[in-house]
Amino acid sequence: MERENFASKVGAILAAAGSAVGLGNVWRFPIETGQNGGAAFIIIYIICIIVLGLPIMISEFLIGRYTHSNTAGAYRILSDGSPWKWVGRLGVFTGWFILCYYSVVGGWTMHYTFLSADNVFSGVPAKEFGDIFDGFASNPWKPLFWLYLFIGIIHFVITKGVQSGIEKSAKLMMPTLFIITVVLTVCSVSLPGASKGLEFLLKPDWSKVDSGVILQAMGQAFFSLSLGMGCLCTYASYFDKKTPLGKTAVNVSLIDTFIAIMAGFIIFPSVFNIGMNPNEVGVGASLTFISLPNVFQHAFGDGSILAILFSTLFYFLLFVAALTSAISLHEVATAYVTEEFKLSRKKGAAIVTLTILVLGTLCSLSFGPLSDVKVFDRNFFSMFDDFSGMVLLPLGGMLISIFSGWVLDRQLYRNEISNGGDLRTPYFKLLIFSLRYIAPIAIGLVFLGQLGVFELIGMQ
Ligand code: TRP
Repeated sequence: MERENFASKVGAILAAAGSAVGLGNVWRFPIETGQNGGAAFIIIYIICIIVLGLPIMISEFLIGRYTHSNTAGAYRILSDGSPWKWVGRLGVFTGWFILCYYSVVGGWTMHYTFLSADNVFSGVPAKEFGDIFDGFASNPWKPLFWLYLFIGIIHFVITKGVQSGIEKSAKLMMPTLFIITVVLTVCSVSLPGASKGLEFLLKPDWSKVDSGVILQAMGQAFFSLSLGMGCLCTYASYFDKKTPLGKTAVNVSLIDTFIAIMAGFIIFPSVFNIGMNPNEVGVGASLTFISLPNVFQHAFGDGSILAILFSTLFYFLLFVAALTSAISLHEVATAYVTEEFKLSRKKGAAIVTLTILVLGTLCSLSFGPLSDVKVFDRNFFSMFDDFSGMVLLPLGGMLISIFSGWVLDRQLYRNEISNGGDLRTPYFKLLIFSLRYIAPIAIGLVFLGQLGVFELIGMQ
């Protein structure tokens, strides 16, 4: 079967950036930054990206492009029959696992876009936003409808293929996302009292930085850049031989970090404008679907056109961000099923979509009818979220860095990142040093930290 490539370098960067820019940029990064030392946190985050993120991203790119294969195939080809082949399979599994709960939230963002546009939030007292969200999430049908619609859109794009599906949609959606981000940022920073919000986000406070904060920055950098499983490896398998891997990785990281910081510029001026305590806005779903609808409504004038527009655009932005990331997750599994089991793209995508529909349904219902069903003490949604974030991704990231630092042939590595000697790679030695020593140790610490091992032995 002929394998497709991305048609252009820009398309390749936008697709990879689409994977990276997602819910993580909006519902975690800004609040983590504000609470953990502002600019100090941002600096640490950027160091994590340079020291750990870039080397691993470049490795994932290289493994994908060199083998021109899906993630499981890529590690199989490079592992020469050794157990390292399991790293690729683990990656496929992780992506599929993340997609199950990520799509549920994708559906919520669509629902909230429509609620905003319909002016449903006007005149609602602050304390009732929680009831609106709980009422929706626990309803047995409504969230499923949006979940299926969200998965349907992903499926549509994936079946169109690499160029006319993934690349074309990224070329349309990423500029849209960028424009909406700029518009919302401008509106938000011109609110009265905006400077307090920016101060909360940016004022460096090094006293807040401790080992826990550093671990948090590392974990966030990893999730935000889509590292540790094979999204970027799969996309890179569609790069052509001339794509400069180092430069592409830097571009993707810059776009991702820029959008994450702008998300803070969008959120905090409004929070301060209405006099809310930023430490009470919550994180994740409660921030996004309970605090923010209220915040936007009151910052821009309850029921005003501006409030409606701002809120609608914000949820649409989240939807686009979530969609491009979800597409990249789906593609990892689709490429795997299609190539390893020699099926047509249509069939491969259908199999993946069906399994996501079933497990996504369980995750969605875990806020309502299935809320009492616990696996490892958690409802389905949290189990999928925690198991992938706390176990699968750090494990994958660690194995990928060890594999590329210790197992992959050095000459092959050098040859591939320099495009056969065409590009200068003065950073090569540092890159290998990070992959061999810094990254595995650092990710190992994040791993232990997330599992709560440090608290257990009284170190935090
Ligand atoms: N990076 C995306 C976000 O910030 C989510 C995501 C997509 C992801 N693909 C991934 C996270 C692969 C980890 C691994 O929301």
